Amino acid sequence: MAEKIAESTGFEKVSVVSRIFPDGESYVRLEGSLKDESVVIVQTTCKPQDTNLMQLAFMTNAAKRNGARKVIAIVPYLAYARQDRMFLEGENVSIETVVSMLRTAGIDELVTVNIHAEGVLTRFPFPAKTVTAIPLLAEHFVKKGFKGAFALAPDKGALHIAEQAKGILGGESGNLEKQRDRYSGQTTQSAKHLEVKNKTVIIFDDIISTGGTIVGAARILREQGAEKVFAACAHGLLVGDAEKRILDAGVEEIVSTDSIPGKTSKVSLAPLLSETLKAL
Ligand code: R5P
Repeated sequence: MAEKIAESTGFEKVSVVSRIFPDGESYVRLEGSLKDESVVIVQTTCKPQDTNLMQLAFMTNAAKRNGARKVIAIVPYLAYARQDRMFLEGENVSIETVVSMLRTAGIDELVTVNIHAEGVLTRFPFPAKTVTAIPLLAEHFVKKGFKGAFALAPDKGALHIAEQAKGILGGESGNLEKQRDRYSGQTTQSAKHLEVKNKTVIIFDDIISTGGTIVGAARILREQGAEKVFAACAHGLLVGDAEKRILDAGVEEIVSTDSIPGKTSKVSLAPLLSETLKAL
């Protein structure tokens, strides 16, 4: 990702030597002169999240110690953003701790993609913005001949995402309802009536993790007569056998971005992130 961004922005590239010691601790060293430069560090923070976060903090500290004037972090997938408040008494607010650590390391500005809830950015200790990959995902489906497909959000929180997709697909949009048990983490979805009979439906979400949300939505869509069902997300965490479970539930294809590189990451974020950087 950093190479693609350097190529399209014309920014100079600096290599990073990184190692994991036998006890699991990370080591980083930047190879290049950063004196008085604005430095962009590209680091996604998918699994192993904690290692990737520590390495982001270490690279930032290294950049500042080597004379960088400013550090902008490009974090395509920002871990811990879903725990953005205390849902139950006694909990912590994970994202608050993560961004405080990044601030201490020296990050001056951060750009991420489809953060779970945008409102949290105002509580970050540095300027931060989230850009959306949903139009790119929708364009992918238009190119595949699915103009006019129904854009479905698996819960109310993702409705704004489905609406962004609708703007490109030109069909209808709607949402299901999802409830989460805050103690067990289990979710249930309600089968609300949708106008999907004989239609191609694309389920859009910010994250696919265990796949439970998509499997539940696909079952409801099948019951309501949808002809074809696809799944799209910005961040394909796809934990364990999530991909298989989703495909077994009758979903034709899963499409995600390269915020988390993998089999389903068919849409590259590099052009979007390059444009965002140029405009900062
Ligand atoms: C949470 O509400 C997110 O937007 C996703 O719907 C959720 O993370 C998906 O998780 P899973 O794939 O485990 O159902």
